[in-house]
Amino acid sequence: MNILILQGSPRANGNTAWMAEEYRKAAEAAGHTVTLVDVAHKKIAGCMACEYCHGKGNGACIQKDDMQDLYPLLAEAEVLVLAAPIYYFTMSAQIQAPIQRIYNMNKPPKVKKMAMLLSSYSPGVYDGAIGEYHGIQRYWGVEDTGIVTAKIDEQKTDVTRAKILDLVKAL
Ligand SMILES: Cc1cc2nc3c(=O)[nH]c(=O)nc-3n(C[C@H](O)[C@H](O)[C@H](O)COP(=O)(O)O)c2cc1C
Repeated sequence: MNILILQGSPRANGNTAWMAEEYRKAAEAAGHTVTLVDVAHKKIAGCMACEYCHGKGNGACIQKDDMQDLYPLLAEAEVLVLAAPIYYFTMSAQIQAPIQRIYNMNKPPKVKKMAMLLSSYSPGVYDGAIGEYHGIQRYWGVEDTGIVTAKIDEQKTDVTRAKILDLVKAL
C-alpha cells in the first residue's frame, strides 16, 4: 500500500521520530511504499477558514506554503499514519496545522486505513489525541489499524518496536 506518515515532533532524534522511523522500516520491509514527512520542520500555517477551497479555488488551498508539497502525497496515500508527541494532553501544534489544512479535500480520496503513534512523558495523557484520531477516522469512514503509545520508560524499546511491527502487520 501507499503509506504517508506525518511526523509532528520538532525533535529530529526524539521518540516520535524514532516511532515513525520504526514504522517506515517495518512497512518497507513488508513491501509497502512509504513517505515519511517531518511536518514539524515545514512551514505550514493553520487553516484560515476563508472557504476559497470550497469556492473559487475548486479544491485548491489559497495558502501557498509547504502544505502544497503535502497535498499531492495526501492525494495518493492509501494509509495515513499520524505520529505526534503529546503537548498539553493532545497532539502537537505542528501536526494539527497540516491535519486541519486537509479541509480543502475533506478526506484524502484514497485513504482506507489509519494508524497513530504517540509519545509522552506520563501515562494516561492520550485521551485528547486518541479522541481526535477516532473522530477523523470515523468521519472519513476508514479502518483504524491501531495506536501505539510510548511514555518515558517505553520509548525506543524492543517492546514498543514490536507493537509498531504489529501495526504494520494489521495493514
Ligand atoms: C510543550 C510541551 C508540552 C508537553 N506536554 C506533555 C503532556 O501534557 N503530558 C506528557 O505526558 N508529556 C508532555 N510533554 C512531554 C512530551 O510529550 C514527551 O517528552 C515526548 O516524548 C516528546 O516526544 P519527542 O521526543 O518526539 O519530542 C510535553 C512536552 C512539551 C515540549
